[in-house]
Amino acid sequence: MTAEWIDGVAIGEAIKAEVARDVEILRERGIVPGLTAVLVGEHPASKIYVRNKVKASHQLGIRSEQRELDASVTSSGLLRVVDELNQRDDVDGILVQLPLPGHVDAKAILRAVSPDKDVDGFHPLNVGRLCIGAEGLRPCTPVGILEMLRRSGVPLQGTRAVVVGRSDIVGKPLALLLLHQHATVTICHSRTRNLPQVCREADLLVAAMGKPGMITSDYVRPGAVVVDVGINRVSEAERVADYFGDDPARMEDFQKKGYALVGDVHPRSVKRVASRMTPVPGGVGPLTIAMLMSNTVRAAKLRRGLQV
Ligand code: GUN
Repeated sequence: MTAEWIDGVAIGEAIKAEVARDVEILRERGIVPGLTAVLVGEHPASKIYVRNKVKASHQLGIRSEQRELDASVTSSGLLRVVDELNQRDDVDGILVQLPLPGHVDAKAILRAVSPDKDVDGFHPLNVGRLCIGAEGLRPCTPVGILEMLRRSGVPLQGTRAVVVGRSDIVGKPLALLLLHQHATVTICHSRTRNLPQVCREADLLVAAMGKPGMITSDYVRPGAVVVDVGINRVSEAERVADYFGDDPARMEDFQKKGYALVGDVHPRSVKRVASRMTPVPGGVGPLTIAMLMSNTVRAAKLRRGLQV
């Protein structure tokens, strides 16, 4: 058996095309949705993520800007920036890219973002709304995964879902969303006993713990659907060959670049047992950006009392 890939790029493009149509309708009414991304310091991955978010906004007709702050910015300095963005009428979405430097009180910053402009869904009010299933802005990666599963026809009701990873950004909110879709959900983490055995109960297995290639076929029930949220850079040739030795295109790409991106799932091992799985890159990543665009337009409508 070889798993079928779930094409996150194609699904992300379809969502973005729908969002672009929504933007056009708003623009005809004189409303231009606006997104501001705040980037603190020189975190290389964060810079790439923010650049991609701003680029996607422009493609869709969303007004977008990037605020870059020095890594030495204080919590109160950052709070002032957030407050200014909260006040601005042309800003519908505010995104403070994580991680923030250690000396900044990240929780205080996320609490300061107006819940109406919180396109990441990280404000405690939106977290609470998600928890009780009330209307609100939801975190982009978890809703992106749900949307991907829905559009791929993966059933959730009554199924067993296992989420490995308990982060506030992915694991916890995703578990709640799956629960609301009537899956039976287990959240696992680094201290879970018999992890492979628990994972093997899953009809849907989600790897979101940030450990390159950790989920091998031992963790996967034959026929399960596997979603890989991890993104890790690997440059040791031996490990890359272990992950992608059966994939000439990926090996060639590694020879050219000197590194490969691998998720938390061991691709060569798991594709022999899973029925469907998401690739890295080109799986969950494009969905995160597509849902950020969708959240920005939603925030623009909600703030003006328009139908969402
Ligand atoms: N860092 C990693 N993922 C995310 C995300 O979805 N939003 C923000 N703001 N920062 C992140």
